[in-house]
Amino acid sequence: MFGNFSYKNATKLYFGDDSLKYLNDELPKYGKNVQLIYGGGSIKKNGIYDAVVEILKANGKNIIEDAGVMPNPTVEKLNEGVKIARENNVDLLLAVGGGSCCDYAKAVSVSVYCDDDPWQKYFIRFEEPTCKIVPVGCILTMAGTGSEMNGGAVISNHATNQKIGHVFGEEVMPKFSILNPKFTFSLPKRQMVAGIYDIFNHICEQYFSGTDDNTSDYLAEALMKSVVHSSLIAVENPEDYEARSNIMWSATWALNTLIAKGKSTDWMVHMLGQAVGAYTDATHGMTLSAVSLPYYRYIMPYGLAKFKRFALEVWNVEPKGKTDEQIAQEGLDAMESWMKKIGLTMNISELGATEDMIEGIADKTFILTGGYKVLTKEEIINILKASL
Ligand code: NZQ
Ligand code: ZN
Repeated sequence: MFGNFSYKNATKLYFGDDSLKYLNDELPKYGKNVQLIYGGGSIKKNGIYDAVVEILKANGKNIIEDAGVMPNPTVEKLNEGVKIARENNVDLLLAVGGGSCCDYAKAVSVSVYCDDDPWQKYFIRFEEPTCKIVPVGCILTMAGTGSEMNGGAVISNHATNQKIGHVFGEEVMPKFSILNPKFTFSLPKRQMVAGIYDIFNHICEQYFSGTDDNTSDYLAEALMKSVVHSSLIAVENPEDYEARSNIMWSATWALNTLIAKGKSTDWMVHMLGQAVGAYTDATHGMTLSAVSLPYYRYIMPYGLAKFKRFALEVWNVEPKGKTDEQIAQEGLDAMESWMKKIGLTMNISELGATEDMIEGIADKTFILTGGYKVLTKEEIINILKASL
């Protein structure tokens, strides 16, 4: 392992089916005004809202409602959240939901005391916060993004067809996150599998880079095996606690900075997926599944040794009598079978992308340099066309 790095994770986690009670331990650390952030109402239907409000009231908090965070939160909603936080002098941003609510809370947290326009400052100019940051806590209801233990915040701007993520530092990571796998039971199956693929792809994005012998890759392989194993159980029985708890825990470790250590990391599937998302507003995990195989099949020759290892270690491909290319190819074929089996979307047409959008999507795709091949615009267009 040749990378040089520092490592700290600032988020305290409470995990398990009794974890919500630990909100009582966290709340006294913050002031009275709590901005309660949630989405389109799933938490009202499944009872999580009532349970959280009861604990907030028992701890004497003023609850400031901030509902309606949409999947792929928008810049308009971000501005609204900042206004609510300013008007109410909030002491804690408590996100109850999936990655969208957690990301949004982080984006609000760095913008409340900042005079600049948040979109321009953080998502166009990629500046770091220079103002006071309001603390964030998360109660997670969907496993996938890893937002509960990282500094990432992704915001969409429909006026400009942009979806951009800023990975903030440890000071923006949630101070605490509560992970109760049972809270994910009410997720529609499509969201569950989108989250599962998001997890798997986060691991791939870090794994498919570098050629050195790196502990991070062994950790990544173990996580991938666990995700595949548990996903097959969860699609059959979404209320299998053991499988859902493993999926939730894997999601956190897939993107809490640990397995990126010592790696250049790729992230091109996410860049492609985010650009597709900017045009279609489609579910994040599905944008990734729809572009993954055309991308990986294209870059495979440039990272053949790692793709071979992926086939052998994650998919148990039998190597006897086969060339490295054949082994690597069979690994991707096995991945494709698994993706189809759990019900992922395999092309961007189903997400609403059309041929005439390809040029624009390619223009909005950030080209990163950490993977096995730095793509040209023409290559991006070809990959997107192959994903239609
Ligand atoms: O809004 P509600 O009513 O809560 O419904 C949500 C939403 O419709 C629903 N849902 C969540 N938990 C539920 C539930 N429905 C029933 N029961 C439950 N327990 O699921 C839908 C999707 O929720 P969302 O939060 O949008 O999903 P996800 O967790 O996948 O988050 C997606 C956002 O995170 C960003 C994505 O780009 C996207 O904007 N990402 C954030 C990352 C990070 N912070 O590091 C990395 C990721 O790669 C990703 O880009
Ligand atoms: Zn993702």
